[in-house]
Amino acid sequence: MKIAIGSDHAAYEAKEQVLKHLHTSAHTLLDVGTKSVESCDYPDYAAEVSRRVQANEVDRGILICGTGIGMSIAANRFTGVRAALCTSTELAGLSREHNNANVLCLGARTQSMEDILAIIDVWLTTEWAGGRHAGRLNKIEQHARGKDVK
Ligand code: RB5
Repeated sequence: MKIAIGSDHAAYEAKEQVLKHLHTSAHTLLDVGTKSVESCDYPDYAAEVSRRVQANEVDRGILICGTGIGMSIAANRFTGVRAALCTSTELAGLSREHNNANVLCLGARTQSMEDILAIIDVWLTTEWAGGRHAGRLNKIEQHARGKDVK
């Protein structure tokens, strides 16, 4: 898969470790920054990744900030992006199986590096279950467009 990865300054080191971890995988990685620990604004990197997911330039996105909260709020403003803040491998698996999450959000200040890497591995290898979940995902888009879909 083609995966875009972005972080703010709080998660710069974590992003570098994630890139290192995935370096030997079969995935193609696109690092959209940030490029240092200098203070920056997480919405800029959420947008860099989300726009690429939205435009199908990449298959998935990974966003890391201090808590993962800001990144998930920002990424979910982009239509077609289903960003999930996952704090366990269980949530990572379910975000894929049920929600077909296409962006994974993580917190470098709130999660250990070991957990972050384990969560990423599960998230990248779990398939969407489809079936009953398909209509629900469709409803998310329809409701967001103000359509009456009940
Ligand atoms: C940066 O200090 C911090 O606010 C940011 O990384 C993130 O945690 C926001 O949700």
